[in-house]
Amino acid sequence: MTTRRALLAGAPALALAACESRAQPAAYVGALKDLAPFPIGTCVMSGQIGDPGWRTVADQHFSQLTPEWELKMEAVLRPDGSYDFTAADAIAAYARSSGKRLYGTTLVWYAQESPAFDRIDGTGARFASAYRNYIAEVSGRYRGQAVAWDVVNEPVAEDGNGLRDCIWRRNLGEGYIDRAFEHAAEADPAALRVLNEYNLESLPAKQRTFLRLVEGLLKRGAPVTALGTQSHLDVSLPRGAYAAHMRELAAFGLPIHVSELDIARGGGRIDLRGDIGAAQARLAEEVAQALLDLPPAQRFALTLWGVRDSDSWLRRRPGGEAETPLAFDAAGRPKPIYEALARAFAAA
Ligand code: XIL
Repeated sequence: MTTRRALLAGAPALALAACESRAQPAAYVGALKDLAPFPIGTCVMSGQIGDPGWRTVADQHFSQLTPEWELKMEAVLRPDGSYDFTAADAIAAYARSSGKRLYGTTLVWYAQESPAFDRIDGTGARFASAYRNYIAEVSGRYRGQAVAWDVVNEPVAEDGNGLRDCIWRRNLGEGYIDRAFEHAAEADPAALRVLNEYNLESLPAKQRTFLRLVEGLLKRGAPVTALGTQSHLDVSLPRGAYAAHMRELAAFGLPIHVSELDIARGGGRIDLRGDIGAAQARLAEEVAQALLDLPPAQRFALTLWGVRDSDSWLRRRPGGEAETPLAFDAAGRPKPIYEALARAFAAA
């Protein structure tokens, strides 16, 4: 608290300097990671580590790293069943050398399969042991460094009608989720084990199914130790919806990770009157406040899904060229999302 207040005390002078050099006002100039009472994360691709523009902002504002792609099955497991950790190791080394926490994603994801698993025929037991070995190999490699893992990502069907179909469920039944958590607990007992999901704040049926899933897992004794809410938001989300969703999620008493925050334009569904920045700031403030309102032990971290707008995965999607979903612009300058987060953290 003292540190955050002290940082802000220096803000006016620094803000003035910023105005002069960039001709744009910046009311808060503190580092997000110093202002917030919990870690501030970003995703990263290994290629960005050597980009000075990315690195300057990442090192100033962020204290936790999630590999954006390079720890996913498609990236680490070759079709012949061997492993390639070159890119993930580079990220882990950068996390160590720059004093950031490493966050692993994702051990099991419906969207990620591998020819190495497709080829397994014969008994379910062979598939089950390959599944366990995969989790042991990937999670075990970063034991002692990764603070947490998304053990299972996006298990719930979009319409809330049960679980998604996937290779893991087809071979292991719905218990594929329990097993993943058990295997992850064996491989790295000290890392938090997260069940991560998206669109919970905007799809009530999906959130209900997710909450029932968590309840069932905990009742059966599955070692789920934290929950992740991706928070790929858009500005059409009604006021109060995010806060309400956070209260539901937090009712289990587990730590919560806002794991992939970005705020899209929302396909023109609402009239922004030209001020996308204000709408994004309003929502970013609600997200920060929702996490701040939790007991300290439940505030795991807030991760933005990228550093600069130009780094965002949304920009790389068809029709996404105009998206400005993050806290810094392409030149690394703070935007209204940054302002809103900094203001909320500073006032906490
Ligand atoms: C995305 C990455 O940002 C992209 O670079 C990649 O092409 C696809 O995956 N939900 C998740 C993340 O859980 O892993 C996704 O990341 C974004 C949606």
